[in-house]
Amino acid sequence: MLGADPAAVAMAADILRAGGLVAFPTETVFGLGADATSDAAVAKIYAAKGRPAFNPLIAHVATRRAAEQQGIFSPQAVKLADVFWPGPLTLVLPLAAGASVCDLARAGLGSVALRIPSHPVAQQLLAVLGRPLAAPSANPSGRVSAVTAAHVREDFDGRIDAIIDGGVEVGVESTIVGCLTDDPVLLRPGGIPREAIEAVLGIKLGETAPGAAVNAPGMLAAHYAPRARLRLDALNLEPDEAGLDFGGRFAPGSKVLDLSPRGDLTEAAAHLFAYLRRLDETHSKIAVAPIPSEGLGEAISDRLRRAAVGAG
Ligand code: TXA
Ligand code: MG
Repeated sequence: MLGADPAAVAMAADILRAGGLVAFPTETVFGLGADATSDAAVAKIYAAKGRPAFNPLIAHVATRRAAEQQGIFSPQAVKLADVFWPGPLTLVLPLAAGASVCDLARAGLGSVALRIPSHPVAQQLLAVLGRPLAAPSANPSGRVSAVTAAHVREDFDGRIDAIIDGGVEVGVESTIVGCLTDDPVLLRPGGIPREAIEAVLGIKLGETAPGAAVNAPGMLAAHYAPRARLRLDALNLEPDEAGLDFGGRFAPGSKVLDLSPRGDLTEAAAHLFAYLRRLDETHSKIAVAPIPSEGLGEAISDRLRRAAVGAG
């Protein structure tokens, strides 16, 4: 458990830069943070939370400028950011060219969820870190969000590298507004009431369940839905296939990428999107080795099954 003094915040930033996990207070709920630019660091979040699928995560940033490097702001997004940032509002925006938030943090989507938190400790941490911080609410998958450091410790003791102490203010998660088209939609109600957002925009918000938005193929950038045909649970490689391997099942070669030669599922999750994309760029058929179904294997398999049916 770390205090919230400058030395402790600097230590937390060092842990994050080295790829570790740090829980920290925000004005809404505690976040479970990892370097948003590192697939390997973000994979540890999914492993610690025990998520059965790769939900995209919110990337927290310190400044508008940092946010503008990650997402493309529509005029409505600008209005909302002007009024509600820093604070409990998350904007889902089209990914900017040259954005550094990694594939795994976005669950392979062509959009990015951004938020500038107002909590002083979160602000300091982001300022010292100097890069986006991926952070879901600090609770195991399927449990309620943590609003005290003690709750976080109960749930994650021994599985994360540090917890920064502090209190939250709002107690519910941020409101999420999707600004991917000219018609902003409410993806999740939260700390800022819908009416306040509608008053700023001067229009009613459309509504979409977050899951539906994430799963709707129309919301995905085309290059994230593989064009290649995927053959799952492949025990061998046909001559015309490239191989997405796990644990060294296929004979190594120029057409084979191994998600984790040593059979580590967290390492495999970190490589998943980049390797899939690389093979898809040059091959029309990809054989995928069996992935164990425990731990992060469930989320990896879920993503591969979606890719195999072309749903994104
Ligand atoms: O208040 C909060 O928002 C807290 C604090 C830590 O900032 N964070 C939080 O994160 O609640 P999480 O991971 O528990 O919820 C993030 C939500 C998920 O429902 C996810 O599906 C959605 O944001 N989301 C993230 N990126 C998205 C995207 N590109 N498109 C649609 N939904 C997205
Ligand atoms: Mg959550």
